[in-house]
Amino acid sequence: MRDTFLPFHKASIGEQEINEVIDSLKSGWITTGPKTKRFEEKFSARVGAKYAVAVNSCTAAMHLALAAIGIQEGDEVIVPVMTFTATAEVVAYFKAVPVFVDCNPDTLLIDIADLEKKITPKTRAIMPVHYAGQACDIDEIAAIAKKHGLKVIWDAAHSFPTVYKGKNVGSFPDIVCFSFYATKTLATGEGGMAVTDNKEFADKMRILSLHGMNRDAWNRYSKEGSWYYEIVAPGYKYNLTDIASSLGLVQLERADELLEKRKSIAQRYSEAFKEFRGISMLAKMPYGESSWHLFVIKLDLEMLSIGRGQFIEELKIRNIGSSVHFIPLHLHPYWKEIYSFKESDFPAAAAVYQQIVSLPIFPDMSENDITNVIDAVADIIGKNQ
Ligand SMILES: Cc1ncc(COP(=O)(O)O)c(C=O)c1O
Repeated sequence: MRDTFLPFHKASIGEQEINEVIDSLKSGWITTGPKTKRFEEKFSARVGAKYAVAVNSCTAAMHLALAAIGIQEGDEVIVPVMTFTATAEVVAYFKAVPVFVDCNPDTLLIDIADLEKKITPKTRAIMPVHYAGQACDIDEIAAIAKKHGLKVIWDAAHSFPTVYKGKNVGSFPDIVCFSFYATKTLATGEGGMAVTDNKEFADKMRILSLHGMNRDAWNRYSKEGSWYYEIVAPGYKYNLTDIASSLGLVQLERADELLEKRKSIAQRYSEAFKEFRGISMLAKMPYGESSWHLFVIKLDLEMLSIGRGQFIEELKIRNIGSSVHFIPLHLHPYWKEIYSFKESDFPAAAAVYQQIVSLPIFPDMSENDITNVIDAVADIIGKNQ
């Protein structure tokens, strides 16, 4: 057994990232400026979108996206129940209604049959999550959206650089929102990006991202800039700093290297775990390439004498960190109370929640770390069949 704790995640920050941050600090320009602009340009080019608006979280990006498509009080927005609360909370910001949809128990992606059932005349948009880094069936969801005249805001918090049918998930309409939170596949501490091919949406999101101002600070304080600005809307303070963008620029350059490492860990796990009785892995859809943000295993509770909570404790005893993605939203007190949900309202999510564990999968894991995780899982299931 290992003698030091392997955390669930550790960001891969090297000398290049550190030097780029120092460069910003030494430049004396530490808020939104030239590096953020460059980060937006490089990111949009990488994901194949025309416009990118850098913000300080994916939550902010999704909030701006809903504002850009004109969500109003009382509108309904379809949200998977198997997600982080951010996907639903941004709908609530507008006094609009998040309408929850169950998941496919094999992939944990949104259940498309349930999604179609939840569409009403009040539905305005769908917010699917590319869960764990695997793309939803984008074509299928886009066809449903088209049929019903709905917009699609993709929650791509897990999915840089996920590919769907040969194209990056950032290249699909209407707006795609990425997260650069500390544990994500491209990490800037806190950060996010909304990308789109729609100029009107991009312009609106940009203005709202900084107080509804028609000019950002760099455009006012640089030599080419002007002191004058106008407020054209009641906006927000969502801009991304150049310090964060320094990290983003370097992580973006390293995206392929970081992906290869996560992919090789996923391969090691998949190879090892396919022999194990008592656990299974999520189904891989044939149409895409995962970003491998998360590696989720499902416990076969009928074959094991312990539950998910105890399994996580046993991993911890063996010095392995892990996590759960997610506690389905209908089980959280807030969402449960306001919509009077019962556990059985979303049966697939409620059942699979009892089975799932996310294992460490981060680029700086050593061969030994990977082996330790596999051995710990083997030991626990071996002792608890
Ligand atoms: C599916 C999903 N959506 C949205 C978010 C929010 O991202 P951020 O922390 O960048 O706002 C997260 C964060 O973990 C997430 O997992």
